[in-house]
Amino acid sequence: MNIMKNAYPAEKNTFPFTHRYQRCVMASKRISWRIEEDVIQGREFGNKDKFLPDQLSLLEQLDFLTEADQILFSQVQGRTYANIFGLVERFINAKVLEIGQHYVLGDQVALEALVRFSDEEIKHQALFRRIETMTATVMPEGYRFEIDPNDVARAVLSKSTWAVLGLTCHIELFTQQHYRQSIAQCEGLSTLYKDVFLFHWREESQHAILDEIEWREEDNRLSSAERDKSVEDLIELVIAVDQILQQQAEADASYFVSSSLTDFSEQQRVAIAATFLCAYRWQYIVSGIKHTRFIPIVSELVNEAQMDRISQALAPLMQ
Ligand SMILES: [Fe+2]
Ligand SMILES: [Fe+2]
Repeated sequence: MNIMKNAYPAEKNTFPFTHRYQRCVMASKRISWRIEEDVIQGREFGNKDKFLPDQLSLLEQLDFLTEADQILFSQVQGRTYANIFGLVERFINAKVLEIGQHYVLGDQVALEALVRFSDEEIKHQALFRRIETMTATVMPEGYRFEIDPNDVARAVLSKSTWAVLGLTCHIELFTQQHYRQSIAQCEGLSTLYKDVFLFHWREESQHAILDEIEWREEDNRLSSAERDKSVEDLIELVIAVDQILQQQAEADASYFVSSSLTDFSEQQRVAIAATFLCAYRWQYIVSGIKHTRFIPIVSELVNEAQMDRISQALAPLMQ
């Protein structure tokens, strides 16, 4: 047996997407960063810093907030924003490791791209745990984020791979859009918070490319009955995401109201709770669906009736 036949250089152009995987590997190596040395750099958050931009937090919907309330509102949502990423990265990484198995004895460039993807998501989770600890030191006590990433991962991973990759692609597309269109553009944000999402975005750019390749590859493996079931799974996943958002919006609105020095009226409390939920749906569902790349990919994979089912199921969340 000639073992050289399977050596890495000779395989380079054997597989259909090797060149795209190769570009992701090269970019990943070029921009690779470390949490403490490159991102944190010995810095701390300030208690007067805004974290999440108004464009994402929908702050402008509440015209009665004082300046201090505006900062707190941005910090609560910014802290949850980091925690939500830490949460979803648990199931994303589990799925990436599983998909990597397709390539262990095949395209070694694809395997390397997915191994790096997984390694980066593990690092991102560590970064977001670090951010949770750091934000806790500058914010009032009482914040709660009690959603277990392993419970969520178990529920998500019980659905079809097609649906999990669809949800992942959606998340990693909106991640980039949030950074480029809102966080990077916003003046007056905490520079540390901005850097966290700058470094995160740099690695996520490769992930979104890989998600799309793997989603399409998985789609090619499915029968039409399996795809039909997968569309149902994707709808169920988005509805499950919404349930998590409802739970966290309620916890965050109540933490915000009890931590603020303002004595809000009942009507203002209702408006605050509604804005938290609206902002979370905007951040984690609607902005992804409205991303210019997402719907074109979905419509290439599903038929018209399936697309209608998706649109009808998501309509109540899009308002
Ligand atoms: Fe990430
Ligand atoms: Fe990612």
